[in-house]
Amino acid sequence: METNLKHKKILLGVTGSIAAYKSPLLVRELIKAGAEVKVVMTPPAREFVTPLILSNLSMNPVVVDMFDKQMQSAGAWHIHLSHWCNAMIIAPCSASTLGKIAHGICDTTLVTLATSLPRGIPFIISPAMDTDMWLNPSTQRNVKILKGDGAIIIPPDKGELASGLSGPGRMPEVDVIRDYVINILSYNINKKADDELNKSLNPLPESVDSDKWNAELELEQMKQANSGDYPHKFLSGRKILITAGPTYEKIDDIRYIANHSSGKMGFAIARQAQKAGADVTIIAGPVSIPTPEGVERIDVTSADEMYHKTTEIFPHFDIAIMAAAVADYTPVMPQQGKIKKGVAGDSLTLELKSTKDILAALGKSKNARQMVIGFALEATNELNYGREKLKTKNCDMIVVNSANKGRSGFGGDDNTIIIIDSNGDQIDFMPMSKDMCAIEILNYAVEMAGR
Ligand code: CTP
Repeated sequence: METNLKHKKILLGVTGSIAAYKSPLLVRELIKAGAEVKVVMTPPAREFVTPLILSNLSMNPVVVDMFDKQMQSAGAWHIHLSHWCNAMIIAPCSASTLGKIAHGICDTTLVTLATSLPRGIPFIISPAMDTDMWLNPSTQRNVKILKGDGAIIIPPDKGELASGLSGPGRMPEVDVIRDYVINILSYNINKKADDELNKSLNPLPESVDSDKWNAELELEQMKQANSGDYPHKFLSGRKILITAGPTYEKIDDIRYIANHSSGKMGFAIARQAQKAGADVTIIAGPVSIPTPEGVERIDVTSADEMYHKTTEIFPHFDIAIMAAAVADYTPVMPQQGKIKKGVAGDSLTLELKSTKDILAALGKSKNARQMVIGFALEATNELNYGREKLKTKNCDMIVVNSANKGRSGFGGDDNTIIIIDSNGDQIDFMPMSKDMCAIEILNYAVEMAGR
C-alpha cells in the first residue's frame, strides 16, 4: 500500500457481534499503519471483548457509557469526539446498531457519535452477523437507508459462521478493513487539502456554479482514488457483459439516426467491475472512449449488430448490465449511396421499423444463475416507467435515471440513480460520479446474488 494512516485519527466503534474478537487486531493494524485510534463500544460488545484490551492497544480510554462521569467533565464530549476524527468505522456492526443508526435512535454512545458525525467525514460500516440476520428484509432496508445517507458499507464475506451455518455475514479480515480505511481516507484527505488549496489560490467568483465546480473536483479526486486496485476483489470469478453507448441506424451511406449517449456510464461500470476482479466484456456502440485496462471490447454500430453480438455471447456470462441507449427504431430500407435532395423533393418521409429489444431478450432467456440488469432513462414519471421496464423485460434489477435532473443523464461525468430490484425494493442515491454509481450498482448486484 503506498499510502498509510500517518497522522490520521480514527474513531472505531465495536458492537456486540462475535466478530468483535477481531477488533483488537484491527486496532493494532490501524495503529501499525500510523493512525491514532479511539474506541467506542456498545454495552453488549463488552461480552465479546474487554474495554481493557482495547484501551491498552489503542492507548486511549475506551468509551462505553454515555453518562460516564469522566466524559461529562469534557462538555459536549460526543460532539468533540465526532469532530476529532478523520474517519469513523464500525467493525463489527451488529444488526441492532445498524438499524438504530439508520433511524437515529441514539440510545448508546456509539449511535450518538455516529449521528453527530459531521457531513463529509467518511463513515464506514462493516456489518457482521448471522446469514439470516444479514438477509432479513429489515437489515437490508437499513443498509439501503445508510447507503443512501452516504455511509460506506463493506460487504460482509461469505463463509462459515460462528453459528455453524454458512453464508454471507462474516466480517472481512482486518487487513481488508484497514485497506478500505486507507483507500477512503487517502481520497478524502487529498480532497480536503485540495479544496483548501484551491480556495486560497483561486477563490471562486460568484458567477461560477460552485456545485458544478465541486463535482469536477470530486471527479478528479475520484479518478485519483480509482487509480489503485480494490483491496477486496468482490467480483473475482464473475463474468460480466456490458453494453454501452448509442447505436447508429443507417439512413443512407452518409447519414444515420443516433442519440446523445456518451457511453460513459457503461464504461465506468466496465472499469470498476474489472478492478473488482471480474472478467469483463463490453459491447460498445460508436463512442470515442478508451477501453479500460483488462476489459475485452467488441465494437458494433447498429442496434441489430448489438442485438446479435450480445445474445450470441450472453450464455457465457453471469451478469449482464445493459447500459446502452439502443435505438428503438431503424429505417426499413437504408438507401445505398446518398439520398439526393433533387430526387427527394420538398419533403422526405423515412419509414422506420422497431428494433429488437436486447434487454428483454436476455431477460427471457436467462437461466437461474444469471442476473440481468437494465437501465431506464426517463424524462417524466421515472419510477413508474422504471418499475414497468423491470417487470416487462424480466430484469433482476433496473437502474433508473432522469434525463431532467441536474448531475444526471447523458454526456456528464455524474449521475443521480435509483436502483429498483425484482423484490420491489428501492434505493435512491445522492448525485455521484459515474464511477461511484458503477461501484454501487456492482455492490448491489453482488449482494442480490448472495441472497
Ligand atoms: N434496451 C435494449 N434494447 C433495445 C432498447 C432498449 O437492450 N432495443 C435496453 C437499454 O439498454 C436499457 C433498457 O432497455 O437497459 C431501457 O431502455 P430505454 O431506452 O430506457 O427504454 P425503452 O425500452 O427503449 O422504452 P422507451 O424508449 O419507451 O422508454
